[in-house]
Amino acid sequence: MLVLGIETSCDETAAAIVRDGKEILSNVIYSQIKTHTPYGGVVPELASREHLVKIRAVVDQALTDAGVTLDEVDGIAATSGPGLIGSLLVGLTYAKALSFSKHKPLAAVNHIEGHIYSVSFEHPDVEFPALALVVSGGHTNLFLVESDSGDFRHLKYKLIGKTRDDAAGEAYDKVAKLLGLSYPGGPIIDRLAKTGNREAFQFSIPKISDRSLDFSFSGIKTAVLRLVKENEKVKEDPLRLDLCASFQESVVNMLWTTTLKAAQTVKPRGIMLSGGVAANSRLREVFRQRSAAAGLKFYYPKPVLTTDNAAMIAAAGTAKILRGETADIDVNADPNMRLAVSEQDVRNRRWKL
Ligand code: KG4
Ligand code: ZN
Repeated sequence: MLVLGIETSCDETAAAIVRDGKEILSNVIYSQIKTHTPYGGVVPELASREHLVKIRAVVDQALTDAGVTLDEVDGIAATSGPGLIGSLLVGLTYAKALSFSKHKPLAAVNHIEGHIYSVSFEHPDVEFPALALVVSGGHTNLFLVESDSGDFRHLKYKLIGKTRDDAAGEAYDKVAKLLGLSYPGGPIIDRLAKTGNREAFQFSIPKISDRSLDFSFSGIKTAVLRLVKENEKVKEDPLRLDLCASFQESVVNMLWTTTLKAAQTVKPRGIMLSGGVAANSRLREVFRQRSAAAGLKFYYPKPVLTTDNAAMIAAAGTAKILRGETADIDVNADPNMRLAVSEQDVRNRRWKL
């Protein structure tokens, strides 16, 4: 089964061809970073305009790279949310048009579910139930993932923790900006942190109730802002290197501490890490070491699949199409689409620990 995946939820125009939800035949990613860098972040209007210009060439390239024609494709999967509405509409509308004209089933895929499926390529054997930590520029979510089929064909999600303010990637990007670094800041801080002292600066851990599995990153961002105001020298090396290393250590520790607390509560067999921030070298290292020590399996995608791509959308879409969960031509993009609602939200009570 060949599925064409299309992803345009933020600032990457991406298309991929995936066979049986497993084998990536092509994975084309056009990044708009150059367009947005002068503004220090993604400008939604510019993003949708550029998707419009690139979408056709990117999809054609994915077909060419895979050596298949559109007629040979068995289904089309596109991200329908969450994300920037104008950007989402370009990819989803293009997918709808292809699906309608070629009589191919269409899957409308949740972007966050796509990130979770990015793990499935190298780890089709994930043991469920598993915790999925999705850390990106727009999201920081912790899900308990169960599987009716024992594999990636039929997953069920329960949201057990989320950020109360900034996403982890957003914190990286904002701190980078405070330090005079370019956009996106995550990969730059990751690189600079390698030569810095992780213990040079101490950040206090946000006070979230003991019984919650939520995250908070706005406090550490404000702490960095205060440091910059107090002493401009932190924007120069070597202090900047130390600040990057200390900030990163703090974020990684916050992510690990809450994930471990969740694991002790819901007793999964393993942890799946995904989303753009999952490319972070220190995060991967800490999770790998500590999950092994805690007797948990640890799964993460290779770097090219951590940041936004369409292969992960094709994989999630393949499972949907196989389950018969296809979308009609009138399916709409939903910028605030949820994958699962937390029990806290539903019952307005705390997760029991
Ligand atoms: O998943 P993604 O491509 O887009 C969203 O769905 O948001 O994630 C992008 C985010 C950005 O905030 C970027 O700074 C961050 O992922 N990121 C990193 C690294 N690579 C990308 N953060 C920390 N360390 C990295 N190596
Ligand atoms: Zn993403």
